[in-house]
Amino acid sequence: MAVPLACAAPALAAPDPVETLATTVCQACHMSDGNSVVPQFPKLAGQQATYLEKQLADFLEGRRRNEVMEPFLSQVKARDIKELAAYYAAQVPGPGVVLDPELAEAGRRIYEDGNEGAGVPGCEACHQLQGEGNVRYPRLAGQHQAYTIQEMLDFRSGQRANDKGGLMRRISERLTDEEIRAVAEYIAGL
Ligand code: HEC
Ligand code: HEC
Repeated sequence: MAVPLACAAPALAAPDPVETLATTVCQACHMSDGNSVVPQFPKLAGQQATYLEKQLADFLEGRRRNEVMEPFLSQVKARDIKELAAYYAAQVPGPGVVLDPELAEAGRRIYEDGNEGAGVPGCEACHQLQGEGNVRYPRLAGQHQAYTIQEMLDFRSGQRANDKGGLMRRISERLTDEEIRAVAEYIAGL
């Protein structure tokens, strides 16, 4: 007698391959929920999907280069970018930790008002007052200080040159090392 279809064992839902990639390979540095705990590895949770898509495409096509990320890029297929970006964008970002409140206060002034004399616009003009970013600009809020500092120095030196029109290079060139440390401290607390 044929087994009626309704009695057949339900097929186990196949694990989604892109989510599996995130929760096995990428989690080693970024954690499964995107809230990296190592200051050198960026938090991805709650990041803007459009920004994540651009960064992943830039990595895959060699416009953004980093020796720590590079060995894992062979596992990312161009067709997976949209889903990976959506996965991290949907994670809930955990709060960052301010280690030096006085430095953060100096950073707040740069973040909100920039430095007119040096030609630095306030970061909030693009990254938004609470650092949440939007469809055009990345979220910065709660990011690890060490990562933010490294990116600013890399934009300045040209090691990271995937910013359109050299926008972040021109901004970081006009900031002192001390100002970069301060603004990174403030961003961690947003
Ligand atoms: C061994 C650690 C490591 C692993 C594993 C790793 N990453 Fe990264 N990831 C990094 C580091 C370090 C950076 C910062 C690179 C830089 O400074 O340019 C980064 C940057 C990124 C960024 C850019 C974030 C931003 O704010 O600009 C994305 C997106 C990303 N990784 C996604 C992934 C995905 C998806 C995987 C899995 C396929 C993965 N990473 C695996 C270490 C890692
Ligand atoms: C005119 C708009 C604009 C202003 C003002 C601006 N940014 Fe950006 N920023 C961008 C854009 C666009 C990117 C994404 C570049 C890319 O595509 O890689 C970016 C990227 C960044 C990143 C990298 C984020 C990551 O996850 O890797 C950091 C850090 C950053 N900005 C910090 C700052 C700080 C600090 C200030 C103020 C001193 C500032 N930005 C002012 C537009 C701006």
